[in-house]
Amino acid sequence: MRKMIIAGNWKMNKDIKETFEFLLPLKNNLIGQNLSVEVVVCPPFTSLFVAFEILKETGIKLGAQNMFYEVEGAFTGEISPKMLKSVKCEYVILGHSERRRYFGETDEFVNRKVKRAIEFDLKPIVCVGETLEERERGDTFKVLEKQVRGVLDGLTYDEMSKVVIAYEPVWAIGTGRNATPEQAQEAQKFIRELVAGLFNRDVALNLTIQYGGSVTPENAYSLLSQPDVDGALVGGASLKVDSFLKIIKAGETALIEKRN
Ligand code: PGA
Repeated sequence: MRKMIIAGNWKMNKDIKETFEFLLPLKNNLIGQNLSVEVVVCPPFTSLFVAFEILKETGIKLGAQNMFYEVEGAFTGEISPKMLKSVKCEYVILGHSERRRYFGETDEFVNRKVKRAIEFDLKPIVCVGETLEERERGDTFKVLEKQVRGVLDGLTYDEMSKVVIAYEPVWAIGTGRNATPEQAQEAQKFIRELVAGLFNRDVALNLTIQYGGSVTPENAYSLLSQPDVDGALVGGASLKVDSFLKIIKAGETALIEKRN
């Protein structure tokens, strides 16, 4: 059975003090709850060590928002998979549309990072998604296929079993305009079928595909109860403990219903 993963992508938010102010109540609320969903927080690099100290032994997992594919060396400003492992990250978001748009990341570049992350036992959350223009042109599936093929190129079945995909339509990110549950389901089913063709059925059935883009406590349940929506990558609504907890609860309810 594939995992349901609710991950908070803090983006460029929260300094050390704010990290404490968020994670302490989150931890206190979730402790002893025995959740079936996997909860992941992805703070900025500067907060990872503090987050690791607060979250150890809680079951709440730590993720980074990016990394470079080299292990060490003269790459000013970059962070390596080895460094992320040293602060006990288990996940790393790769190929987020903001990285593609503002920092010129390509599918090929993301693919190199995906391979290196897996080599270092980090689970990549690989983001794909079409722009509004591409959707309106009727190119959604074409764009998704190109991105999925590109970012997963050359992975073995075993490597692929470590990957999480996040379907994040660019037009839904930070806009308050989420994809409808039907739109998310349609795209995510397409991605799963594509992965079944590129790898095999088992790999595809075990693959966690998250939805991301304006997920809120109000829309989370209807999105997460779709058969091919196995979690959420949450930006804005992951910055407040209360709303992040509500989304986690919605995921837990949806998961229990799917399992029954
Ligand atoms: P949002 O961001 O929830 O603020 O739309 C999602 C994301 O970019 O991962």
